[in-house]
Amino acid sequence: MASFWLNPIPFRALLILLLLHLSCLFNNVAAKHGYSARHSHHSHTSNRRLQRAYIALQAWKRVIFSDPNNFTSNWVGPNVCKYTGIYCTAALEEPKIKVVAGIDLNFADLAGFLPDELGLLTDLALIHLNSNRFCGIIPQTISNLSLLYELDLSNNRFVGPFPSAVLSLPMLSYLDLRYNEFEGPLPPELFQKKLDAIFVNNNRFSNVIPAILSGSTASVVVIANNNFGGCLPPSISNFAETLEELLLINTSLTGCLPPEVGYLYKLRVLAHNMMSGLVPDGVCVLPSLSNFTFSYNFFCEEEGICMNLTSRGIAFDDRRNCLPEKPLQRSKEECNPVLEHPVDCYEERCAGGGGIFGGAAPFGPAVVPAATPMLPPSIAPSST
Ligand SMILES: *[C@@H]1O[C@H](CO)[C@@H](O)[C@H](O)[C@H]1NC(C)=O
Ligand SMILES: *[C@@H]1O[C@H](CO)[C@@H](O)[C@H](O)[C@H]1NC(C)=O
Ligand SMILES: *[C@@H]1O[C@H](CO)[C@@H](O)[C@H](O)[C@H]1NC(C)=O
Ligand SMILES: *[C@@H]1O[C@H](CO)[C@@H](O)[C@H](O)[C@H]1NC(C)=O
Ligand SMILES: *[C@@H]1O[C@H](CO)[C@@H](O)[C@H](O)[C@H]1NC(C)=O
Repeated sequence: MASFWLNPIPFRALLILLLLHLSCLFNNVAAKHGYSARHSHHSHTSNRRLQRAYIALQAWKRVIFSDPNNFTSNWVGPNVCKYTGIYCTAALEEPKIKVVAGIDLNFADLAGFLPDELGLLTDLALIHLNSNRFCGIIPQTISNLSLLYELDLSNNRFVGPFPSAVLSLPMLSYLDLRYNEFEGPLPPELFQKKLDAIFVNNNRFSNVIPAILSGSTASVVVIANNNFGGCLPPSISNFAETLEELLLINTSLTGCLPPEVGYLYKLRVLAHNMMSGLVPDGVCVLPSLSNFTFSYNFFCEEEGICMNLTSRGIAFDDRRNCLPEKPLQRSKEECNPVLEHPVDCYEERCAGGGGIFGGAAPFGPAVVPAATPMLPPSIAPSST
């Protein structure tokens, strides 16, 4: 948990939320003191952007079929800024008018759909729907939300392919789709966007990691618990300027950990499994590395300082590999196929896609663990 919370993104998110809360608070206080009441009346009822928000939120309420905590019971009437979970603030380019800038329905336990009318909420900077029971697909109309900065849809029941509409959101910085039922491939464009955080773990995404990961600015990439297969392409080095956490556990990735991971000089947390070959020294000498979890792989060799991470003060988990000198390794039976067909990680390069093993494990599927109990805490949905 700590590692993720130390990241700048949630802080920024919190700050924005705080600002939103403050602006709401200020308005309530202002209203209570009768101060700027006329202005407030004007701004709450008569601007076209709030009217569009009213249409959108009423349309949404109509497709919310369960609301056990009565979050939406006050979603009545045109004063949308008073609705539970709806946050208004001054419009960016027109400070005199109020607009709906945030939706925070985290842990509301709502069940229903997202209607096309959400595309009318063009002033939204934040959507937080963590831990609800929303289902169906993400409407294409959200591509209309040109100010959207944070989109948290985690821990719902959304289905369908990766919601490509998010790729056209110019301001999007934080994308959290974890714990849903999205399926199919991740589009390469996802890794080309100027995102700070990409959480797509615990879905049904499949296919391989795109071969060319270029132009990414993400500091946190969590794709764990999906069924990708293939290998990790050397172009992961294109994340060098930004990447701090890379969690690949239980993604059916096989092959080598590319030595290019050694270029990710900001990397603090690295966790992956089912890879084989050697643990490259370049990774173990990374200056910021503080936690290197590589349990449940098939590593049979460690280079240089990797053999003694304690000496660098790095927290590590090397259990359940095939490392001859280390305790708590896999059994001989599990390791033999790997040891009999050693991989030269400097020769065999992941070309992306199916990679060197054509997407299949280098050993019989029987020896590949179906799952791993090692779940890093930052995989769990947050309460941002
Ligand atoms: C929600 O409202 C219904 C009907 O007014 C009421 O029976 C129920 O107790 C309320 N639930 C909560 C959690 O407040
Ligand atoms: C997109 O936003 C504009 C206002 O900027 C609005 O007129 C239009 O109806 C919206 N489109 C959709 C599909 O919601
Ligand atoms: C591993 O990922 C699959 C999806 O590919 C999921 O069904 C399974 O529950 C995950 N295992 C664990 C231990 O989380
Ligand atoms: C690891 O390094 C530390 C300090 O540099 C040393 O005390 C320890 O003996 C080394 N352990 C092994 C297994 O080489
Ligand atoms: C290191 O990271 C792994 C995976 O994220 C996590 O499970 C583990 O608790 C972390 N260890 C420490 C000491 O922070």
